[in-house]
Amino acid sequence: MAILEILKYPEPILSRESLPLKNITGETAQLVNDLMETMYAAPGVGLAAPQVGVAQRVIVLDVDHENPHKQVYKLINPIITRTEGEVIWEEGCLSVVDFTAEVRRAAKVEVVAFDEHEKEIKVAAEGLFAVALQHEIDHLDGKLFIDRISRLKRNLYTRRRKKMLRDGTIPSNESPGVMI
Ligand code: NI
Repeated sequence: MAILEILKYPEPILSRESLPLKNITGETAQLVNDLMETMYAAPGVGLAAPQVGVAQRVIVLDVDHENPHKQVYKLINPIITRTEGEVIWEEGCLSVVDFTAEVRRAAKVEVVAFDEHEKEIKVAAEGLFAVALQHEIDHLDGKLFIDRISRLKRNLYTRRRKKMLRDGTIPSNESPGVMI
């Protein structure tokens, strides 16, 4: 297991669509374990493979803060099969430093995926879990939560981020909330 570097916006791979896996191998199991360790170390409640530079459709989630490691989801080639309702959630992302924003999402989702043993998994989710699933699957489609806010707010952030990179400003380590 290894803690991997989490890539930050505007790293180009974060805007690219990731490919579905054709075979689940030992390498996939290794990737899943590394994603888990990297997510817990961050700390975050979810992480997608492209965030560590791997353009494959693999995500991991653990949204239960009180009981970490108890309800862990390792999802390969996840597909949203059903959505219901609407919710607005204040989101942050491990790949988007120093910024959070309200994002509109489906309130409930159903997702079908494979685990690392090629077993099909069906997940029904609501609340933070539903939001996190949509956020992570967005990562696989090359979308960040800042692509789901108004152009005005996004431009404010992208300008600030470019200035931070230009000035060499170190992002504050204070987590503004739950990082997905
Ligand atoms: Ni994220």
